[in-house]
Amino acid sequence: MNITIINGPNLNLLGVREPGIYGSRGFDSYLEELRKLYPQVDIAYFQSNHEGDIIDKLHEVGFGATDGVVLNAGAYTHTSLAIADAISAINAPVIEVHISNVHAREEVRHHSMISGVCRGVIAGFGLDSYRLALEHLLNSRQ
Ligand code: DQA
Repeated sequence: MNITIINGPNLNLLGVREPGIYGSRGFDSYLEELRKLYPQVDIAYFQSNHEGDIIDKLHEVGFGATDGVVLNAGAYTHTSLAIADAISAINAPVIEVHISNVHAREEVRHHSMISGVCRGVIAGFGLDSYRLALEHLLNSRQ
């Protein structure tokens, strides 16, 4: 099985960016742990700060190249109809994840443009949100 994790804008700064909200661990080290925890899963990783690049990646992997996408679209979650359309267009299931509990934060973060076209949403569990999404994709394949 292979899954693709896509991180959107500013998530390249995990570990450095607002550690009180997002923690002090960089994503690379977390990804290494995830790959060790799930040796049976081929985990591809892509990060971009650019909306169109995220859409291109969804198109690239979404028609058979991946069994599922774990997507943290960052702030594009709250604004991007274009990413929502890309998720609707592809065949692969997409799980929306957030590190922070967006519902406990500013009101602007309470609305997601993409939740309705994703299989489900996981938010507020820190980096473990990604593992929980992966766990679902794994379970739903067995
Ligand atoms: C985030 C929450 C978003 O509101 C924010 O813009 C991010 C990160 C999260 O993982 O908690 O960049 O998606």
